[in-house]
Amino acid sequence: MPLDADYDNFHLPSHVGIIMDGNGRWARKRNMIRTQGHLEGLKTAKKMVKVASNMGISFLTLYVFSTENWKRTADEVGFIMGLVKTYLREELNFYRENHIRIRHAGDPQGLPLEIAGEIREVCEATRNFQGLSVILALNYGGRDEIVRAVRRLSAEGRGEITEETIRRHLDNPDIPDPDLIIRTGGELRTSNFLLWESAYAEYVISEKLWPDWTEDDFKSAISDYQRRERKFGGIRT
Ligand code: FPP
Repeated sequence: MPLDADYDNFHLPSHVGIIMDGNGRWARKRNMIRTQGHLEGLKTAKKMVKVASNMGISFLTLYVFSTENWKRTADEVGFIMGLVKTYLREELNFYRENHIRIRHAGDPQGLPLEIAGEIREVCEATRNFQGLSVILALNYGGRDEIVRAVRRLSAEGRGEITEETIRRHLDNPDIPDPDLIIRTGGELRTSNFLLWESAYAEYVISEKLWPDWTEDDFKSAISDYQRRERKFGGIRT
């Protein structure tokens, strides 16, 4: 009987997206403040980057901060931005050693200048690495991404508006659509994550809160994905 976490190394999803939900609830259950949950969440994110890199996955998009998350208290927003900065600085050697490329999805214009600058620098420093690409969705909203894409397209003032031309103006047009989107924390919604790109993604929802998520949970999600039959709107042939 195979373990849940047994997955097939030869049929990995190329692109996995994760909605890292449940940090606040994790903290509340322990009578801690919400930011403690984010701190633990960052530890889990670091672990999952290692796991995905070791497994040989090509693209991992992490939903770090949405265009709606600005509604949170200034303290919480400031804390998450601080975590992003520390994360990028502290992990740079790890990215170099493991050939990990960092990329950004979202609107850099709405970010504090310091954070936008930090992301730009790390993206630049890692741009030639050929291992796992980690896409940080930060100040990211699926609707906002589509609006910005259509604006860029219409500003060019030429050509048709088609699925293909819109797709080419998204934040990272060279990255394949996500095959698998994992959501922790048990909620059954997309929360504005990769709306365009996820049209045919498989979803795996875990009841576990993000700080409790483990390597085995990640591998089980991959294994679950591998048991799905993907038809992309067609029929079984
Ligand atoms: C959602 O949980 C989590 C976030 C909005 C923040 C995610 C941030 C991190 C995991 C840390 C930074 C990570 C990186 C890679 C830099 P929630 O607060 O909505 O949880 P709740 O639903 O239980 O309240």
